[in-house]
Amino acid sequence: MKKILLALSVLVLAFALTSCEKETIASRASKKGLDIGTAFGSDIFNPEDQERIKEFSNILVAENFMKCANLRPNAKFWNWSDIDHAIEFAQANNIQMKFHTMFWHQQNSSFVSNISTKEDALAFMDDHIKTIMEHLKGKIKVYDVVNEMFEEDGSFRQSKWYNLIGEEYLAHALTVARSCDPDAKLYLNEYNNECVGYPKADAMFNFVKKLKESGVPIDGIGMQLHLSTDLPFNPDAIRANCRRYADIGIEISFSEVDVRLPASKFNDEAEVKKQEEIYTTLLDIALTEPNVKSFIVWGMYDRTNWVPATFGGYGNACIYDMEYNKKPVYNALFEKLK
Ligand code: XIL
Repeated sequence: MKKILLALSVLVLAFALTSCEKETIASRASKKGLDIGTAFGSDIFNPEDQERIKEFSNILVAENFMKCANLRPNAKFWNWSDIDHAIEFAQANNIQMKFHTMFWHQQNSSFVSNISTKEDALAFMDDHIKTIMEHLKGKIKVYDVVNEMFEEDGSFRQSKWYNLIGEEYLAHALTVARSCDPDAKLYLNEYNNECVGYPKADAMFNFVKKLKESGVPIDGIGMQLHLSTDLPFNPDAIRANCRRYADIGIEISFSEVDVRLPASKFNDEAEVKKQEEIYTTLLDIALTEPNVKSFIVWGMYDRTNWVPATFGGYGNACIYDMEYNKKPVYNALFEKLK
């Protein structure tokens, strides 16, 4: 009898302990093996935001701190302090880090505009990759090696890197990156590349397949997914795209998710519901397509999100409202992770 009583009280205690542990979006996603998280700015240094970040994220990415203009304001000076502090916070809380981005046609420092020969472009790229990856070795799970390399029609974007080096700048950057940190995952990141049948998406897939077949080190691609409730949303085409990448052994990040509303419909219930459906459908795809490894929102707050400044007449794209309250969409994501 005593033994039974003892066993029972151990059971009750164990149950009480587990039910005390607060379940969060981060903890639920971790249990399912999905990396979930947000882009961060200086909010990461604010205690209140840190609590919200911990509740939502098991992976983080810098919204701007890791871009050339911020990280390397001139040729000689590297501004590591924000990144190092953010990584310290992440590590102390068991949160992984994604790097965004080594090469892009935007947010470059002014000294980059002086690069005018193929030789100098290659030297800059090599130095940039090596310095970043040596400094951050072991601390970054995934690198966006290059961001936004295609035009909408599927041709290569005429970036400085493309114009000076040619299409091989992409294979070059990936190869140098692999040699610097063989344990880090290497991605190419893009927008409007999520739907099978869209020229940019098909061009990117064919290019990545070609890279894979020729032995260039590439682990994954990012689909930014800056979506809008008043544009077509085609989950079947997104799923089909994820699957063709799975077939060639490429993993995927839903890397910059936000779903904006036209300002005229901020209070329209059906439109708000549509936003919720898009978010949860994307999360469902991420949970059910095994090669989709992460679901990252491009900021959590309507108040500070980049959308209104970029897409005039649009906003409310995030999971927290203007007063920093969780929106129903936040809870819908939490439920989806059950
Ligand atoms: C945006 C940031 O959110 C803004 O703060 C900044 O002013 C401009 O860049 N695609 C990307 C991101 O890959 O780096 C962009 O981030 C949004 C679009």
